[in-house]
Amino acid sequence: MRSTLITGIRELTTNDADLGTLADAALVLSGPRVEWVGPAAQAPDADDRVDVEGRAVLPGWVDSHTHLVFAGDRSAEFAARLAGKPYEAAGITVTVEATRAAPDYELVANLRRLVREAVWQGTTCLETKTGYGLTVADETRAARLATGLVDEVTFLGAHVVPPGWNVDDYTDLVCGEMLDAVAPYVGWADVFCERGAFDADSAKAVLTAAAEAGLGLRVHGNQLGPGPGVRLAVEHGAASVDHCTHLTDSDVDALANSDTVATLLPACDLSTRQPLPDARTLLDAGVTVALASNCNPGSSYTTSMAFCVATAVLQLGMTVEEAVRAATWGGARALRRDRGEGAVGVLRPGARADVHVLDAPSAVHLAYRPGVPLTHAVWREGRRVR
Ligand code: NIG
Repeated sequence: MRSTLITGIRELTTNDADLGTLADAALVLSGPRVEWVGPAAQAPDADDRVDVEGRAVLPGWVDSHTHLVFAGDRSAEFAARLAGKPYEAAGITVTVEATRAAPDYELVANLRRLVREAVWQGTTCLETKTGYGLTVADETRAARLATGLVDEVTFLGAHVVPPGWNVDDYTDLVCGEMLDAVAPYVGWADVFCERGAFDADSAKAVLTAAAEAGLGLRVHGNQLGPGPGVRLAVEHGAASVDHCTHLTDSDVDALANSDTVATLLPACDLSTRQPLPDARTLLDAGVTVALASNCNPGSSYTTSMAFCVATAVLQLGMTVEEAVRAATWGGARALRRDRGEGAVGVLRPGARADVHVLDAPSAVHLAYRPGVPLTHAVWREGRRVR
């Protein structure tokens, strides 16, 4: 296995409790893993050398919430929002129709395009969801097509109740035949617990069935208003509850006393003209926070984690360190990939060699120069991809 020594690192964010953030650092990658991290003066030799000439280095972004298996475009819906029309879950069915009608090759090409776009901007670990099929065949197809193209696939048959169904019959389908068909392709299940989608009882049924099928759990909760999503996520031991835009004090307490990550999706809140989540209160209460893009054609059509980080710093009251950590280690924690051999979101020996070199001397530039493409180089599982 060839090794690469990366030198000239002015600021290295490791997210490792012992290593911390290092000045004048070096890194050795060996095959798909990090082999060594430390001060440049002590760097061992390696087969190849890359000098990043005084730039900052971070773990690659971990985007723990996307919806990339889709066809079609909803820019007209977005434009209508700009003119004052509210975002509604019902818009999801527009993408469902387009996705059902698209051939496999078109869905795969679109998914590959978005993954490439994300990786080009420093994302090295991605989750994506089904949820634009909503029949047994279409949900299974989405899960099958996504397998191998992203790091984690989540079953979101409980996205909205499709036209022609009542909520109870559709929930039975999701918890029975659909779950049986999709489960072999996915590691996770999710439910959109919100007015206009699934209420507490239906969401509970989905989470219970998915846990019995051996899947990890996540919840879309508290996106468009206060509701039971966070409480249910915590009660069911979900790895994350995503959105968290409208939280009560008891939601914050429940999260603070749990292992459930609060995944914030600020690009979505901006695009849907929702208030921005109160990251400061969550962090001060001790909640683990992740930042993700929520890339999808309806509520958040961006793959840019740097945009999410800049927004988190400029608008959500997070420090640069907190925002970078949430977009790397936080995402890894939400995907339960933060520990052991091959961990992501962290740079320490044994971690996955996912490295993001910024075209800047420090991570502060992510917020200081918002909107400027600052990715200089990317390694994903030890392979240089940019
Ligand atoms: O996370 N909230 C539900 N699902 C997506 C929206 C999908 C869409 O509008 O197409 C989200 O924002």
